[in-house]
Amino acid sequence: MLSKALRTAVSSRSQAALFKALQSAYFTSSSELGVKHEELETNPKIPSVLKASDFMLNRHVGPNAEEESKMLSVMGLSSLDQLVEQTIPASILIKEHYLENPSASRPLPESKAESLALANLRKIAGKNQLLKTYIGCGYNPTIMPSVITRNVTENPAWYTSYTPYQAEISQGRLEALLHYQTMIIELTKMDVANASLLDEASAAAEAMYMCHAMHDGARNTFVMSKDMFPQVIGLVQTRAKAIGVKVLLVDPAEFDFAANKDICGVAIQNPDNLGRVHDYTDLIHKIQGTGAFVAVSADLLSLAMVKPPGEMGADIAFGSTQRFGLGMSYGGPHAAFFATKDDFKRKMPGRIVGISKDTQGRRSYRLALGTREQHIKREKATSNICTAQALLANLSVFYGIYHGPNGLLRIAERVQKMAQIAQHTLKTFKYNLVTADDMIFDTVTVDLRGFKKNASEMLAVFENHGINLRKIDDTTVSFTINETTTLGDLQELLHVFDEINGTIEPLEKIMSLENLDYVKDMPESIKRTSKFMQQDVFNAIHSETQMLRFLYKLQLKDLSLATAMIPLGSCTMKASGASMMMPMTWPEFTEIHPFVPKNQAAGYQEMISKLKDYLKHVTGFDAVTLQPNSGAQGELTGLLTIKRYFELNGQSHRKVCLIPHSAHGTNPASCILAGLELVTVKCDAHGNVSLADLKAKAEQYKDTLCCLMITYPSTHGVFEEDIKRIVDVIHANGGQVYMDGANMNAQCGLTSPGYIGADACHLNLHKTFGIPHGGGGPGVGPIAVKKHLAPYLPSNLVTDPDPEGKSLGSTAAAQNGSAGILSIAFMYLETLGKEGVRSATSHAILNSNYLMTRLKSYYKVVFTGAKGRCGHEFIIDMRPFKKFGVTEEDVAKRLMDYGFHAPTMSFPVVGTLMIEPTESEDLGELDRFCDAMISIRNEIKEVETGKMDKHDNPLKNAPHCMEDVTATTWKHSYTREKAAYPLAYIKARGKFWPTVSRINNLYGDKNLITKFPSEYKYL
Ligand SMILES: Cc1ncc(COP(=O)(O)O)c(C=O)c1O
Repeated sequence: MLSKALRTAVSSRSQAALFKALQSAYFTSSSELGVKHEELETNPKIPSVLKASDFMLNRHVGPNAEEESKMLSVMGLSSLDQLVEQTIPASILIKEHYLENPSASRPLPESKAESLALANLRKIAGKNQLLKTYIGCGYNPTIMPSVITRNVTENPAWYTSYTPYQAEISQGRLEALLHYQTMIIELTKMDVANASLLDEASAAAEAMYMCHAMHDGARNTFVMSKDMFPQVIGLVQTRAKAIGVKVLLVDPAEFDFAANKDICGVAIQNPDNLGRVHDYTDLIHKIQGTGAFVAVSADLLSLAMVKPPGEMGADIAFGSTQRFGLGMSYGGPHAAFFATKDDFKRKMPGRIVGISKDTQGRRSYRLALGTREQHIKREKATSNICTAQALLANLSVFYGIYHGPNGLLRIAERVQKMAQIAQHTLKTFKYNLVTADDMIFDTVTVDLRGFKKNASEMLAVFENHGINLRKIDDTTVSFTINETTTLGDLQELLHVFDEINGTIEPLEKIMSLENLDYVKDMPESIKRTSKFMQQDVFNAIHSETQMLRFLYKLQLKDLSLATAMIPLGSCTMKASGASMMMPMTWPEFTEIHPFVPKNQAAGYQEMISKLKDYLKHVTGFDAVTLQPNSGAQGELTGLLTIKRYFELNGQSHRKVCLIPHSAHGTNPASCILAGLELVTVKCDAHGNVSLADLKAKAEQYKDTLCCLMITYPSTHGVFEEDIKRIVDVIHANGGQVYMDGANMNAQCGLTSPGYIGADACHLNLHKTFGIPHGGGGPGVGPIAVKKHLAPYLPSNLVTDPDPEGKSLGSTAAAQNGSAGILSIAFMYLETLGKEGVRSATSHAILNSNYLMTRLKSYYKVVFTGAKGRCGHEFIIDMRPFKKFGVTEEDVAKRLMDYGFHAPTMSFPVVGTLMIEPTESEDLGELDRFCDAMISIRNEIKEVETGKMDKHDNPLKNAPHCMEDVTATTWKHSYTREKAAYPLAYIKARGKFWPTVSRINNLYGDKNLITKFPSEYKYL
């Protein structure tokens, strides 16, 4: 029996009314039920035998109770609490589980059963309203082929790998990224492309930095076309202001570029904000004649049929790959593409994949030109990109491969023809159009000046019909056709326009679909005539079976968490539970445009608000922004927040940022990008910040001190005893304390930046809160701050403007950055609950200390805390082996033969390995890793004692790939078995084979190839 509200809605025949009625009928009752379910499940009076049994708490942490007590006894301890007390200084250890935080309106939840948490989130997700979306503005509905979603997006073998620093066991995703770069180069017709940036708007800022750097800072004005997307303009304005670059918004066709000698670069967009397609060739040459560089933002799909930026002469091309199969996901994650001319490749931001060869001359892939990056250049870097969007880049190239050049062209042409039909039809309805019939790609823009309805009124009518248009200003609206638009959708859309303006004739008569002669073609001068994506990889994998095998073949080449522990210190490779990952691909989340009215995104808003509250609890802070798309962007956002606070409180002279010597490379790079002045603080012999040097520097700069950037526990893996004193010294000298949250997984539930006394921190949701690394991104780097900094947090020109003008501006295109993956962190916290979060942290410390205890008689441990314990990670020294010719790289590569990924190499101390097991590994895996490391130590001893040849030994020749081990000839002084199966467990658990032997990095950089040459045969 239908309710009265539903009956009325059905009879009204309004789609939107029906949707609303259905939603309230279903969700009011079911969410009430949900609350009751939760109460019953968490009621302590009800015997546990009656409660759900699928708790993540029992699944996320590796060691079980028996293993835990075994591990503790190896360390001579009787309880986990005892270990925690020996690790975390008493002055900052929170004994009672969580301090009340009045700023967070909700406490951290009790842990929920996985199925219950999923059902709850589905209800929340259901509050998002899925209207037909034609908003465009850089985000469009797409169709990702299911074979890619199922085998990549939802596949831990793809999403749990790390940035491919260990190239020999990352050949699958490196090859995929090379195809991605090739696709971008082919579509843009530029010479080199990187392996992705964070989003389109921040890519524009990177273009601005690059133009500025290419003039060595001598020109300090950046010009942007006023017809670029507003979110792109907003972000560039924020980032340019920080480094003292002036942004001019102009009409490029009118502007006199020659009159201003301070212009370092110019950004223009094609098609522009109003949907107009341009041939910028003459303009670009004119601008370049004045010495300025030109960056063109392009719609990737349009490049299948529109003259590409490279052929127009652009110096840089950038944009978003979102419409290559990626969900809109309320703003992200999406890969931004970035390409440039060969001459400028060394100035290009982000990671670049290049081709090289291994010891046997086999073609192999690895990260190229690493010396450009922040971890080497530090404060001299012109970009702080570390985590980018590797997984999203790979997803978009798989979309490109599946469709191939012909398929992409077909999609582009269909979109364009529909837009032209719409344009033509609206003209017959007597609408005034901003766009010209033959110069549009996918967007039709309507000028409403003098019309009976303004833009807001038009949007309201359309919303009522279940359709979202875009309001450009009070008298201009637009709509953008996309891959998912059907002829029926088009008819519905045009009907509403017709209805508003008064029906002239039946639509079928006006909109002829059988004969398209009335649709004008684009002029030859703007049409793309050059071929693209002719490489065989783009022209051979079009059936589902081929695609499945292609993806599987790549996957087999990579070591991910599906294979073994990845003990990367500072990178935190904890398990991402499957039920945490599932909601991310629900259409209720993927199909929401970032610029829909907030009421249409009620589900997102609810999840975001809860997540923010949980993060306030964990950090002990008062406000959170989820905008930054990576840890490094979080750093930059945090520093800009502090800077803005001082600026608006009459202390804009406070610009000195103290950073300890041991800091991650992103810290100094972010400091410079925030326009602050870097002063380095020394570390003492124990790896701690030198309190004496810190005091001296803080006092020396007391009048100009802005902040200290500190990682805690330190990048040396130690909880420094002096942390509270360090905080006090900074505050006493007028500065703020910014905590780099990369190591928050050693704090959660046991202490917090707020409790320690810091003012701001970023969190890496992709390290600490279950979001996997995706082979180098996506990431989410929210920042949390104390109350006094809250008014200065990021805003968004389109959705969350800041009328008071206090906000720092924006550091990502969408207000909630990569909102589409926040569900992972949300599920992590909902399923683990406050007990689980604390337990995860304690077990991360347990696993790390257990490994250290087992390994310390074989390797020198570089730093420990006051009571001889390490935090969640520790560093072992490889420098003593150098005199026998063995390096940290040899040990890292040899671990591959044992089936493990290497620990972090040479960070923060050169010649060392930093090991972080995480809480997710069980005792069996930890012991196997120890056995491998001990066996390697014995191999080093064999070299040391001369039993093994200094040059021909398993360490120097590692890794050993299958082709070499099974070759007819074997020239080494040790056996094949020793090479490939040095310990019994390797046979028992199944061998993971690297597919290449050691890769020659120098060769690859000297002979740089960053695209797949057409003469190479892929198959
Ligand atoms: C200590 C530290 N800070 C900052 C970062 C940068 O984070 P992201 O890679 O998300 O930009 C890292 C990443 O490894 C890190 O280890």
